[in-house]
Amino acid sequence: PLSPIDKAKYVAARRASEFVESGMKIGLGTGSTAAWLVRCLGERVAGGLRIRAVPTSSRTASLAREVGIEVISLDEAKWLDLTIDGADEVDGNLNLIKGGGGAHLQEKIVATASDRMVVIADAGKQVETLGAFPLPIEVVPFGWQTTQLLVEEALIGLDVLGRTTALRMSGDAPFVTDEGNHILDLQLGRIGNARQLSLVLNQIPGVVENGLFIDICDALVVGHGDGRVLVR
Ligand code: A5P
Repeated sequence: PLSPIDKAKYVAARRASEFVESGMKIGLGTGSTAAWLVRCLGERVAGGLRIRAVPTSSRTASLAREVGIEVISLDEAKWLDLTIDGADEVDGNLNLIKGGGGAHLQEKIVATASDRMVVIADAGKQVETLGAFPLPIEVVPFGWQTTQLLVEEALIGLDVLGRTTALRMSGDAPFVTDEGNHILDLQLGRIGNARQLSLVLNQIPGVVENGLFIDICDALVVGHGDGRVLVR
């Protein structure tokens, strides 16, 4: 039997998988909730659903292939009908923090290249204001410590509660993304103006992309531990 949190993720993924129709090109998100979606779609593919999919990480690519989904590159697809992905936080305007799994760069490229983005999440991901979850930013390895200083400087004067930044580690070494970059996690506590913060961060040369998804998500499918699903 599934734990309540896994059940919540599963029922959200399963409901969202019903939005997928034969002939579609689909973006596949990354994380434990998105993994449920990939498994649900794998079952439907075995039953005759015809889709081609662009994964947002090497992890999702392996799982998709494993369950029999045809994987293509974003360059082959060029544009997608629908992307379904998880999130770390979702606010009332469907703005998101993503990147807890370190895949937000590819996730943002894929979601932006889609007619629609649907987020699947357990109810605990819903927040009034973004920022309790540390905001990930992908930075190039070259001069990352200088980039970190510039980020900390840029945060002064912005409407945030905390300003602590930390290099994400994987054991004793810096975490490396699928694109060969590092991640800085920003403990902000509360993000007063997400749009402004996103612009300010992305202006810093060593920053590749931040984990704020603003005006990208079109719908939210929320799963609860008792099996209820709500679509927003
Ligand atoms: C991956 O980089 C993230 O954006 C994920 O979408 C996020 O971490 C959600 O993961 P879970 O579904 O495992 O909570």
